[in-house]
Parts: sequence; C-alpha cells; structure tokens
Amino acid sequence: TIPVILDVDTGVDDALAILVAVRHPGIDLLGISCVAGNAPLAQVVDNTLRVLDAAEAPDIPVAAGAARPLLEPPRSASHVHGADGLGGIALPPTERRAEQAGAVELMRRLILEHPTPVTLVALAPQTNLALLLRTHPEVAGRIERIVFMGGSASVGNASAVAEFNVWHDPEAAAIVLDSGVPTYMYGLDVFNRVAIEHELAHSLEHGDDALGRVVGALLGHRIAVSADESAEYTGLIGDAGAVCSLIDPGALRTELRPVRVELAGYARGQTLVDLRKHPGQEIGLTPADEWAGVEVALDVDEARLAGVFLDALGLAGSS
Ligand code: BDR
Ligand code: CA
Repeated sequence: TIPVILDVDTGVDDALAILVAVRHPGIDLLGISCVAGNAPLAQVVDNTLRVLDAAEAPDIPVAAGAARPLLEPPRSASHVHGADGLGGIALPPTERRAEQAGAVELMRRLILEHPTPVTLVALAPQTNLALLLRTHPEVAGRIERIVFMGGSASVGNASAVAEFNVWHDPEAAAIVLDSGVPTYMYGLDVFNRVAIEHELAHSLEHGDDALGRVVGALLGHRIAVSADESAEYTGLIGDAGAVCSLIDPGALRTELRPVRVELAGYARGQTLVDLRKHPGQEIGLTPADEWAGVEVALDVDEARLAGVFLDALGLAGSS
C-alpha cells in the first residue's frame, strides 16, 4: 500500500478524491490537511469531516492549515463549488473533530513517524506544503514525492494561462517545485478529460447504494455547473483523477520536463512547461539548472482512469 497524506480544499472534486483514497485498499490514508481555496478554511474543514463520515472512514486525522495564500487575500470559487464548497449536497453534520495541532504540525508528525517515505497528494493551493517545507526542511528527505493537481502545459482556467490552485498561491507552488522533492503534475491537460457519463451519474444519484448517491450528487453538481458555465466541467472526476493516478500510473503518459511558475504580470500563476525537444539548447541555457524537473502528465486514457475511479468506489457494475 502507498502511505498518503492528502492536502485539500474540499471542494466538490476534493470530496470525490477523499472517497477514493479512503476506499481503495492500495492507499493507506494517514491524514488530511485542509487549506483555503475552493471555500473558506472553516468550511473546508467541516466539509472534509462530513465526507469522511459519508465514506464511513475510520478515524483519520484532519487538521486546519492556512486560511489564505502566502501573499494574496483569499478568493472565492463559489461559482464552481457552490456557497458551501460542496455544491449544496447537504451531507449530514458530523461528530468528528479536527486535530488541535495545525496542518503543518500534523504533516510533519505523520511524515517523520512513518517508517517508509510518504506520498503527499496536493489537491488545492499549495500554501500548507510551502509552509511545511520552509518550517521543517528535514521532512523533505522523508517524502517519496509530491503529486499535485495544479498547473497546465496548455490552457488555464482561473486565467487564460493559469490553473486555479497555482493561480491562488503562485509563491507557494514555486517553493514546492524548487524544494528538491520529486514532483508529479496532474494538470489541466489531463484533469479536464476524465469524466463520468451523465446517465451513469444520474443513476448513481438516484440508486440504492448510499455512497453511490453521494458520488452521483457530487458529479451531478459538476454537470449542473457546466450547463451555464463551460463544458469542461461536465461530469469531471477532477481531483479524484490525481488519486487514481497513484493507483494506476500506467493510465497516464508523463514526461520529465523543466517547469517554472510565473510570478508576475498577466501570466501570474502560469506553469511554464518547456516542451521543446531539446529544452534550452537553442539559446544555450540549461533549464535543468534553473527550472525544476517535474514529471508532467501530458496524456491520459480517460476511460481507464474513470474505470479506476468507479472500481475504487465499488461502483464499477452500476448502470
Ligand atoms: C482545481 O481547482 C478546484 O476548483 C478543484 O478542486 C481543483 O483542485 C482545478 O483548477
Ligand atoms: Ca481542489
């Protein structure tokens, strides 16, 4: 099994990702750290605890982290995730409580206490991760790799070129990429492609399986949003795809590429991915010296990864 810490801003698709991480036997979910992003921090924590209830998860520690990005004020994503961050699907209130210690302390402890290196999966602005790596640099050598949903080698969503998680806290993303910890980018190039068909989402939402009803309602929210927004949101499993990539890495094609986070001007928050055949040779600059080497997911077998998602949730036979 893969020991995993999730960093989330739950978030409709973060909720789907948590469900997969809890349910898949190949993942040992050690804990969840929360950060402001899709919703304000207190809402993110509450949503996360409610989702763990819906998954009938054992006692998994959850901690609150940064309430805002390193430099900028927080910005709302309620147009995508609804006023409550969960698309208004009204999960029942929870008895679970967040840890007293904050997210940075929880991550530090879980990483250092675990006998083998831990995989960090960041599905949100990377503020918590940046604070962790700056405050406790000794954890870096105990992190197997950081898999992050964020960035894009092509089009953006928060701006023409920037993806929301990186755009929300570009400095944090830059710190993480420059940390020396191996990184894997599950960006919009693949994120925007893995979806569940409308009919299936609808039948799950109105079916007999309790977990299936939650999953169907969450996916249904994405579909409802897409009606007056962009088709890109249609039935997407979103952040859950990054967790599925841990389970079935062969469903994606990745390349080790030089990447930098743009911090200034109109392109602030863009991940510049050097896709040239021989990066830097033409101008005599060796990007490897100045740019972080990131394993970038550039292509995905959509049906295969969607299958991993349904399988993990025990919904593969549903129709
Ligand atoms: C990212 O932003 C949020 O809306 C999603 O949860 C995902 O993490 C996509 O840009
Ligand atoms: Ca998210």
